[in-house]
Amino acid sequence: MAHRRAAFLLAVALTVLGLATTQAQLQNGFYKGKCGANDVEAIVQGVVKARFSREPAVVAHLLRLQFHECGVNGCDGGLLIDGPGTEKTAPPNLSVKGYDLIADVKTELEKRCPGVVSCSDIEILATRDAVRLAGGNAYTVRTGRRDRRQSKAGDVNLPGPESTVAQATAFFGKLGLGQMDMVLLLGAHTVGVTHCSAIKSSRLYSYGGKAGATDPNLDPYYAFVYKNYVCPNKPSTDNTVVFLDDQWSALKVDKSFYKMLQKRRGVLSVDQNLYGHGAPTRWMVDMLANTENFSWLFPQALVKLSEVNVLTGAQGEIRRVCNKFN
Ligand code: HEM
Repeated sequence: MAHRRAAFLLAVALTVLGLATTQAQLQNGFYKGKCGANDVEAIVQGVVKARFSREPAVVAHLLRLQFHECGVNGCDGGLLIDGPGTEKTAPPNLSVKGYDLIADVKTELEKRCPGVVSCSDIEILATRDAVRLAGGNAYTVRTGRRDRRQSKAGDVNLPGPESTVAQATAFFGKLGLGQMDMVLLLGAHTVGVTHCSAIKSSRLYSYGGKAGATDPNLDPYYAFVYKNYVCPNKPSTDNTVVFLDDQWSALKVDKSFYKMLQKRRGVLSVDQNLYGHGAPTRWMVDMLANTENFSWLFPQALVKLSEVNVLTGAQGEIRRVCNKFN
């Protein structure tokens, strides 16, 4: 009898211990009931909607921000920190925008329930809302992320615009994302811009390191227009802005990006490489261009990206302002 009671107590103790050590998880509607009578997700949506109506390009800023956030040590708010030597100061992040919107959302939330909603959750919720406003499908994201107490420029190792399919695949692989996820996520280049500096040497004037050579994978008409009108070969055009997708759909979340790749009109090498002859991703581009699957697969890929290496439970902190540690 004593034996059986001891075994029972041991079993109970192990169960309790097991539950206590189980890692906290992201949850649907994590903030329900945690901000008084306020609906956290509705507050985020309200701020994003107001901004989007004045500045539709905010969808591009936020999508890029989510990638540069989650692609470096996970979706942990590390990108938002100001100060010398933080992620924000690393070269690939110097042209990232959208920080002010995240700060605006945080201000609104802090007025209603201070110290409750993490900056990393705000990034993911705001991006989701902007995608919807720009014509993408609605989707649910789980919340409960916490903000990391660390942000180092030296950790930023994002792929460059000239990456091959193999290099890009390796990068996404390290985040736990597959090649299809990568092709879908690069579909974010359906919105936003780049600068002539990202394509001048690699695509227009010294393809393959050869002076005067133009990338043969670039549609000749586009090459002509870029070389003569948009990005002429002089330093003053380095900062000239070029749409990543065609100009008629440059701020719309749609599948047109893949159609452009089929026509050799992708702007960045990394994009056009997805449709290279013999590229393992070529059939994926065809599938996404020729069907309506992008509309529901893109949100799924964004959700996967939004859950890379998150902090939860008692890890990290809930920042009071997004650009400073507490
Ligand atoms: C191999 C991966 C990727 C590379 C090499 C890459 C590269 C680039 C480059 C060079 C720019 C232009 C920056 C500038 O000139 O200011 C850009 C812009 C952008 N990227 Fe990517 N990107 C990648 C993946 C992604 C992913 C996964 C997303 C989002 C899910 C994304 C979203 C965007 C957006 C929306 C813009 C436009 C930003 C704006 O107009 O404000 N990119 N990307």
